[in-house]
Amino acid sequence: MHKQREHWSSHLGFILAAAGSAIGLGTLWKFPYVTGQNGGGIFVLIYIFCTFFIGVPVFIAELVLGRKAQRGAVGVFANLANDSAIWKTAGWLGVASSFLIMSFYSVLAGWGLNYVLMSLSQFYKNLSSQEISGVFDLLASSADITLFWHLIFTTLTAAVVYRGVRQGIEYWSRFMTSGLLIILISLCLYAMTLEGFKEGLHFIFYPDPARFKPSAAIEALGLSFFTLSLGQGIMLTYGSYMRKSDDIPKTGLIIGLMIVLISLLAGMMIFPIIFTFGFAPEAGPGLVFKTLPVLFSKLPGALFISTGFFILFVFTALTSAVALIEVVAANFTDLLGWSRHRAVIIVAISCFIFGIPSALSHTNLLFPNWPAIYGKTFFATIDDLVSLWLLPIGGLMVSIFTGWVLDKQIIREEFNSGTRLRWLWQPWMFFMRWIAPVAIIAIILQQSGLIDINAWLGSSQL
Ligand code: PHE
Repeated sequence: MHKQREHWSSHLGFILAAAGSAIGLGTLWKFPYVTGQNGGGIFVLIYIFCTFFIGVPVFIAELVLGRKAQRGAVGVFANLANDSAIWKTAGWLGVASSFLIMSFYSVLAGWGLNYVLMSLSQFYKNLSSQEISGVFDLLASSADITLFWHLIFTTLTAAVVYRGVRQGIEYWSRFMTSGLLIILISLCLYAMTLEGFKEGLHFIFYPDPARFKPSAAIEALGLSFFTLSLGQGIMLTYGSYMRKSDDIPKTGLIIGLMIVLISLLAGMMIFPIIFTFGFAPEAGPGLVFKTLPVLFSKLPGALFISTGFFILFVFTALTSAVALIEVVAANFTDLLGWSRHRAVIIVAISCFIFGIPSALSHTNLLFPNWPAIYGKTFFATIDDLVSLWLLPIGGLMVSIFTGWVLDKQIIREEFNSGTRLRWLWQPWMFFMRWIAPVAIIAIILQQSGLIDINAWLGSSQL
């Protein structure tokens, strides 16, 4: 039933595809506002630490498992764990999280597309700051327009995945990941000319110990899982398209470095703009759609800056969304023998349908009592369910499976195949067995309210 598996055409192509999946709205939309809310530099430092010491080892593990099994998320566990039901559930959990993320991700990205069009038509002309921010509320509460962009974005993503690993994902990711690097660097250079540049830099790079909250460490770990696309089978699937001669540990380190650099660049672009106009850095999730357009409109070259930024936003979202659909679709082709085309179309339609309540979550049209019952919108409920629960649990399963369940010899061989960094084997194994699981369990316990790290470490006065 298994056809010859398609593989990446080149190592660079793979790096750009994996980086494209990782660099996404997590970097451009979540990182800045979470950093703003958690006091800047000290949070950034913890985030970097979590990325290299926990995120990257788990990232490497996913690639190793995927390449070994040559299957998508569920198949990896079925194949390596002798069809054990518990481990297969871990794979399905990954598939479910990817599906759930895609459902709200494409609503968010759809709004981004809409802002490209709005920027091109210079919507901010003759509007007051308040009116410019208000446009977002108007947009979010317009069911038809939001659904329209949600549909367009889902279709664009499906069109890329439909063309396959090489001609679709790799080809387009190459193009978009390089494009986004160019736009991001240009916007940063621009930010350097602003008055608030120094203050912005100080905010992200100066780790003020007085602002340290241990719970921020947990938030940082969650964010680094989200940005590295871990815990949901993406890198398992991408690993399965790697060749034996590819260097997995090196790839992991490169991607970790790229993610950190891009996050910092995003921060170096956004915070100077915020400080130049005296806004508060802790604006929250609305930062990108409400605060930034106001600020863009006041800058010389607003048309260029605003359009450039939102194109960047859409590109990063698209390369990540491609991975999300691929993971779900790959399981159906692996397990049910569906053709890629059939799997992609069915998955995309289901994502669109399941995304409808998220798209309508700022209107009263569907589930009007949802916020009163769950305390937040449908959109935020799904985002939290995935980011706070499913991803950490997925990451935990991968680390336990790699560190404790699988035969070490098998993993070692796969880890070493194609790499010159063999000396990393020992430290990596140590991280997989001890550091990653303990840290992830700490996240889960903190989030469930079973422990309160702030109080424990005696910093509740912060
Ligand atoms: N890593 C992406 C981001 O930072 C999000 C994502 C998560 C994409 C999981 C694919 C899979 O936005």
